[in-house]
Amino acid sequence: MNTLTTTPLAPLLDRLFAEAEATSPASIPAATALSPEERTRLMRSKTDYLAFYGALKDMPLAVSRETGTLLYMLARGMGARAIVEFGTSFAISTLHLAAALRDNGGGRLITTEFEPSKIARAQANLAAGGLADLVEIRQGDALKTLGADLPDSIDLLLLDGAKALYPEILALVESHLRPGALIIADNADHSPDYLARVRSPASGYLSTPFAEDVELSMRLG
Ligand SMILES: C[S@@+](CC[C@H](N)C(=O)[O-])C[C@H]1O[C@@H](n2cnc3c(N)ncnc32)[C@H](O)[C@@H]1O
Repeated sequence: MNTLTTTPLAPLLDRLFAEAEATSPASIPAATALSPEERTRLMRSKTDYLAFYGALKDMPLAVSRETGTLLYMLARGMGARAIVEFGTSFAISTLHLAAALRDNGGGRLITTEFEPSKIARAQANLAAGGLADLVEIRQGDALKTLGADLPDSIDLLLLDGAKALYPEILALVESHLRPGALIIADNADHSPDYLARVRSPASGYLSTPFAEDVELSMRLG
């Protein structure tokens, strides 16, 4: 059984990735108004992320197709049953992870997003993919929504929200990560503090850059 490459999920992902490619920043006035320097500053800000992502609320900002496939393979290969995701957007990454849960025999995926319009689109996509029963979307700032009621033993954490918050979100989830848990951080080069932490020999992780823009880390104990 392979949920990722069969109907209804495969054609749904084809459509969502095609839409994501067509939604360039040039079509969003709030995005074109930002210089590259300002965009980088906002992406790394611990205080301006609400306004930044609010201005980009019509953009999917999704993982690449390659990263999506990687997410499915990692979650499927490790037999993940409990997954946490920071940054839902339209649920493109969520669909890959939930498909792995389905093929692993079931499980629980907690994801979080503060933009209500994005949550509505994510819910519709999860329903269309036949995966809504596996996913709990927590509405609000992840600093709050991931602060309580997490599974005791988390297999996989995807970090794909405000980059500057990666260290804080890892700190919230860390005590729930089982030995061998994987953490995938997208665009982690925008979070030097996070990279310093997971790459420090004393941190309790093995960590390596993977592909162009992903940091893959494993909890050791
Ligand atoms: C890069 S997009 C996520 C893309 C998604 N993982 C995918 O591949 O389909 C980042 C999302 O995180 C949300 N976000 C950023 N910071 C957040 C926070 N502190 N709490 C909740 N959501 C946040 C943004 O609104 C945005 O939709």
